[in-house]
Amino acid sequence: NVPLVVDTDTAQDDCVALLAALLDPRADLRAITMVAGNVGFDRQVRNAFLTLNAAGRLGEVPVHLGCRRPLVRPWESAENVHGDGVGGLDMDLTGCAPEEEHAVDALVRLAAQRPGELSVVAIGPLTNIAMAAAKDPDFPRNLRALYVMGGSNNGRGNITAAAEFNFYVDPEAAKTVFAAGFPVTVVPWDPVTLRQAVFGTERLAEISALGTPLAGFFTRVCAATLEFDRRVGIEGTTHPDSLTVALLLRPELLRRAAGYHVDVETAGELTRGYAAMSWGVHGRAANAAVVEEVDAAGFFGYLRDLLARPVVPS
Ligand code: BDR
Ligand code: CA
Repeated sequence: NVPLVVDTDTAQDDCVALLAALLDPRADLRAITMVAGNVGFDRQVRNAFLTLNAAGRLGEVPVHLGCRRPLVRPWESAENVHGDGVGGLDMDLTGCAPEEEHAVDALVRLAAQRPGELSVVAIGPLTNIAMAAAKDPDFPRNLRALYVMGGSNNGRGNITAAAEFNFYVDPEAAKTVFAAGFPVTVVPWDPVTLRQAVFGTERLAEISALGTPLAGFFTRVCAATLEFDRRVGIEGTTHPDSLTVALLLRPELLRRAAGYHVDVETAGELTRGYAAMSWGVHGRAANAAVVEEVDAAGFFGYLRDLLARPVVPS
C-alpha cells in the first residue's frame, strides 16, 4: 500500500483524483490538505466533503485547511473554467468538520512520523508544500515522493500562453519547491494531459453507460470543464490531477519520464509561472523527473474500473 496525502484545490478533476485516492485498494490516504486555487476556498472544502461522501468514506479521512492565499500574490481563481467545481452538487454537510490542525502542520507531522514513507500528491498551487518546507527543512527529505501536477514541458500554457494554472497562481511557491530538494515527479499540462490523455466522446459515453453513482458523480463534476474545453477546441475532458494520482499509485501507467532541471518564472512580463524545463544540453543538474509519456488507454481503464464500483454514498 502507498501511504499518501493529497494536497488539493478541490474542483472538477481534483474530485476525480480524490476518488482515485479514496477507492484504489493500493492507496492508504492519510489526509486531504486544502490549498487556495481553482474556486473559493470554502467551496473547495465543501467539494472535498462531497467527494468523500460520493466515495462512501465520509468521516474516514481527515481534511485539513491550508493556505487561503498564495505566498505573495493575490489569489486568482479558475471559476470561469470550473464553475463551482461540482456541477451544482450539494447536500447537508452539517457535522462534516475539518480538522483543527493546519494543513502545513499536518503535512510536516505526517512526513516526520516515518521518514521516507509518505508520498504527497500536490494537485493545486504549491503554497502549502512550500510553506511546509519553510517550516521544517527536513520535510522534503522526509517524503518518499512528491508528485506535482503543474507546468508545461516547453509547450502550451492553459492560463496564459506561457503558464499552467497551478504554477501561475503561486509561482513563488513553485520556484521554492523546485529549489528545496524534494524527490519530485512532475506531471505537466502539455504534453501528457493535453495531448495524450483527453477523454473524448466515446470514453465519456463508456463511463456514463456504467450507470453507477460514481459514474454519475464523475459526469456531473466534469460537465463545466467539458463545456469550457469545447469552447477552446479541446475535444473532451482533461484529467491532469487524477492522472497524477494514478501515476503514483499505478507506476505501470508511466511510459517515459526524464530528468530535467525545473525552475519557475516569477519576474517575467508575459511569462509569470512559466516552467523552465532544462534538459541535458543546458548543462544543469536534474532536480525533477518530468513525465513525458503515459499509457493513456491504461489510465482510462483504471478510472473506468474504479467508477464501475457499486459504492453507496455515505
Ligand atoms: C490544473 O489547474 C486546475 O484548474 C486543475 O485543477 C489542475 O490542477 C491544470 O492546470
Ligand atoms: Ca487542481
